Amino acid sequence: PGAPSRPNGAVSAAPAALEVPKEAAVLFGSQTGNSQGLAKKLAQRLEQQGFTVTLSAMSDFKTNTLKKLHYLFVVVSTQGEGDPPDNAISFHSFLNSKRAPELKELRYSVLALGDTSYEFFCKTGKDFDERLEQLGANRLVPRTDCDVDFDEPAAQWMNQVLEAVNQSAAPAVRVSPSEAGAASSAETESEYSRTHPFQAEVLENLNLNGRGAEKETRHLEISLEGSNLTYEPGDSLGIYPENHPQLVEDLIEAMGWNPDETVALDKKGQTGPLREALLRHYEITVLTKPLLEQAAKLAPESALQGLLAEGQQQALRDYLKGRDLLDLVQDYSLKGIPAGDFVGILRKLPARLYSISSSPSATPDEVHVTVRAVRYENGGRQRYGVCSVHLADRVQPGDSLPVFIQQNPNFKLPADPEAPLIMVGPGTGVAPFRSFLGEREEQGASGRTWLFFGDQHFATDFLYQVEWQRWLKDGVLTRMDVAFSRDTDRKIYVQHKMLERGAELYKWIQEGAYIYVCGDEKHMAQDVHQALQSILVQEGGLSAEAAAEYLSSLQQQKRYQRDVY
Ligand code: 2AM
Repeated sequence: PGAPSRPNGAVSAAPAALEVPKEAAVLFGSQTGNSQGLAKKLAQRLEQQGFTVTLSAMSDFKTNTLKKLHYLFVVVSTQGEGDPPDNAISFHSFLNSKRAPELKELRYSVLALGDTSYEFFCKTGKDFDERLEQLGANRLVPRTDCDVDFDEPAAQWMNQVLEAVNQSAAPAVRVSPSEAGAASSAETESEYSRTHPFQAEVLENLNLNGRGAEKETRHLEISLEGSNLTYEPGDSLGIYPENHPQLVEDLIEAMGWNPDETVALDKKGQTGPLREALLRHYEITVLTKPLLEQAAKLAPESALQGLLAEGQQQALRDYLKGRDLLDLVQDYSLKGIPAGDFVGILRKLPARLYSISSSPSATPDEVHVTVRAVRYENGGRQRYGVCSVHLADRVQPGDSLPVFIQQNPNFKLPADPEAPLIMVGPGTGVAPFRSFLGEREEQGASGRTWLFFGDQHFATDFLYQVEWQRWLKDGVLTRMDVAFSRDTDRKIYVQHKMLERGAELYKWIQEGAYIYVCGDEKHMAQDVHQALQSILVQEGGLSAEAAAEYLSSLQQQKRYQRDVY
């Protein structure tokens, strides 16, 4: 069937019955924007091939159009414990429900983004792939599961998709106008991106915590001058860090390598000295199962084989947690593996994303981030968060950092400057709200705003205290509630403050307030979600189920947005 060898774009007289119309939906589920970026690229390339493309977040997709759809491409990432990102939740549960239609006419493929250092690697992508098959859809090309370094496998998947659609799709009967406005808009874009970062000058690097604090939170001001990079409140800054020089030295010593040996810096043929490779190009602080499997191949005699044996899942899980490459080479006596072979199995050092804490209107050409330094001890050795400690200890004003802007369409101010805002951001989760309020101030907006902030101690950890106080005085910030967890015997968290103010919060929500939550995903965001639900039950008289549904409808309407990690 079809005409597999037909050259691209050739017009045949009458499309054969089995040829599929050139209409496709490209749906993304994205927490940080990577999936969205890839989906957009695929949409553009399909349009170049004459397709009519609907590009959208899963949460904006009209599921009643699913049955009429000919091609569906899913690009989706996975959250911590195998969960879908916020804007994929509704589509994920729709497809997995009894309401999902049979999809025998549909051709599809899934690109899954994930991280092999998590046990439920690419789980959400796998879910979609399997479920679409169950519903009778035809898998056009196999799913690709990407690790953090997703560029290359994603590009390969895209090429396979384009090749496959060209073999099955009917030629374009007419050139249809694009429906995917975003995909073809001609914005003036900066030449700088994640794959080509801008070398930005650091203007300021301050510790926001007071003397005697248990924590260190850095406020960095970074210049974007000359980059053409722009951002909106809610977006993130990507920063490429350097590994800790001590860890690099220790690793080289443990392996008996020569730091000046020339090795590959990437998979494209760039080479450089080993020390440089381990400092700036490869991840050496996270262990993954695939890494251990490859290391075991390089050291067939080592006891690693035992750890990777069937039935050792729990032991492996325990071993991977909190250990780095130095632990691995010491624990399994991997000395003897040549440096060139070893770097060949390492992952590329990924950029870290930080929610931007400055308003682009208030400080054009500058971007601020708020970063908590991660330091802890494990196995008798001091451990450091790669990027946070690099920024805290080894970056001074005048230095430059490779950066890019990561847009976050899932965390945006309402278009209406009068809409009330409820913002919940303990710790560094407060960062985007400094951006939001800065923006509202510049807009001269009069919408009400309410901030919930929390941290350990009032005296040392009240991040940006004078700025909130000024905004309270000026009316940019209408209300602020703070929860200092370690100033009292019983811990008080932001969600406790929210519950205390339940009646008032409920009123704000009824009056159309937008709710934003930023910060820790595992505990805080879930507890805050629970608190919102309780408030709807208590103040609104809803059942627990109705309250949960109400919250997901707020999420659907983008009146409840989260930037959690
Ligand atoms: P803790 O460290 O005293 O437990 C910023 O990190 C603030 O968030 C700290 O005050 C921290 O308190 C608090 N925090 C920790 N777990 C939390 C949770 N489950 N919900 C809300 N806040 C939490």
